Amino acid sequence: MRRKLAAGNWKMNGISASLTELESLATVHANAGVDILICPPATLIHRAAETTKDTGIRIGGQDCHANAAGAHTGDIGAQMLKDAGATAVIVGHSERREDHDERNEDVRAKAKAAIDAGLTALICLGESLAQREAANTLDIIAGQMSGSIPDLATGENMVIAYEPIWAIGTGKVPTLEQIGEVHDFIRTRLERRFGEGVGRSIRLLYGGSVKPANAAEIFAVPNVDGALVGGASLKTADFSPIISALETS
Ligand code: 13P
Repeated sequence: MRRKLAAGNWKMNGISASLTELESLATVHANAGVDILICPPATLIHRAAETTKDTGIRIGGQDCHANAAGAHTGDIGAQMLKDAGATAVIVGHSERREDHDERNEDVRAKAKAAIDAGLTALICLGESLAQREAANTLDIIAGQMSGSIPDLATGENMVIAYEPIWAIGTGKVPTLEQIGEVHDFIRTRLERRFGEGVGRSIRLLYGGSVKPANAAEIFAVPNVDGALVGGASLKTADFSPIISALETS
């Protein structure tokens, strides 16, 4: 059985004062029936990990370098994230693919670095609006999967998030059929590549404008094992009902 996962990506949001949101989240969900992961900006990882230690909340990074260490000014290695208290890291988010020109092979190298450091790699995939309208979604996902997912993936060290780019921060959400089609497609390809056991154990999250109002119906879609939430993960008041919807799904 795959344990459900509610993951929050704070993106470039959050200062010291935001840590109180983690305190309240930990209080409200002291006995959560699902995994909870918050990925704050790198500046807060250590303090977020301290704030949530002895709670069910885990802390993750939003990116890591493909190399373990070296002359890469401004970058952060996976081991450093682990040392700061992270247990996971997002790699290949569409905002990084776009803002930093990250290609599938870069994402794969980052995912491998994360796994080598003992972190869970949360790999993001997703099509643009133009690709969706040209009926290329499944081809794009297939290419991103074969290019971005390293060979050593397991259900413990990897999570996949399907995040259609046009749904991120827009309030637009694919139909439940569209979400189901892509998640089923990803599951089938994972089983083919890694074998049924591993393929079935890898968790698939949906991301893109997940809100308290739409979470329950999205979580009812087969092969949706949770969500990667941006804007609605910043405040406990918004994220908490999403966690609750996942718990009862
Ligand atoms: P929103 O939930 O703000 O649409 O962001 C989704 C996302 O990009 C999470 O990684």
